[in-house]
Amino acid sequence: MALYPVIADLFDRHGDEMYGEDVTQRQHALQCAHWARQEEAPDRLVLAALLHDIGHMVSDLPEDAAHHGNDDLHEDLGDVWLRQYYDADITDPIRLHVAAKRYLTAVDEEYLEKLSAASQLSLKLQGGPMSPEEIEEFRKEPHFEWAVRLRRWDDRGKDTDFTPPGLESYEDLINREIRA
Ligand SMILES: [Fe+2]
Repeated sequence: MALYPVIADLFDRHGDEMYGEDVTQRQHALQCAHWARQEEAPDRLVLAALLHDIGHMVSDLPEDAAHHGNDDLHEDLGDVWLRQYYDADITDPIRLHVAAKRYLTAVDEEYLEKLSAASQLSLKLQGGPMSPEEIEEFRKEPHFEWAVRLRRWDDRGKDTDFTPPGLESYEDLINREIRA
């Protein structure tokens, strides 16, 4: 099957909604995927970076739910939706990208200091930095390292003045990685 038209339609309908830090959902997704490509990440991780916030596009929660005190669980929505099409090495980093923030804030002091105000706010809603027990559990996840890499692009994909290559440049990748 060709999934690209479905993804393109979601981006058409929701891509202009705000991600929350003066960039749109489309800008954010495309910047994250761009940084992944720049670092020559494996194709499947590039795809995960591109689609990591798709949960915001497949749910009907208000776009700034975090500011209303809800943890919208978009990582789980995205994971469940994408698992219809993709294997776990693509969907696990997506499922874990919020946990990866909690992980990094616990193990990397510099990371915590550099988090944006909005991200610090959502960190609280997401449970704050991981405890030592949670760190141990997180490291047992088969794709936790990919989730951590994705997370760093996620935090970087908030540049208001940067327009990276468009969604169409990922058409082949989106379709090619679909589970046989
Ligand atoms: Fe994100």
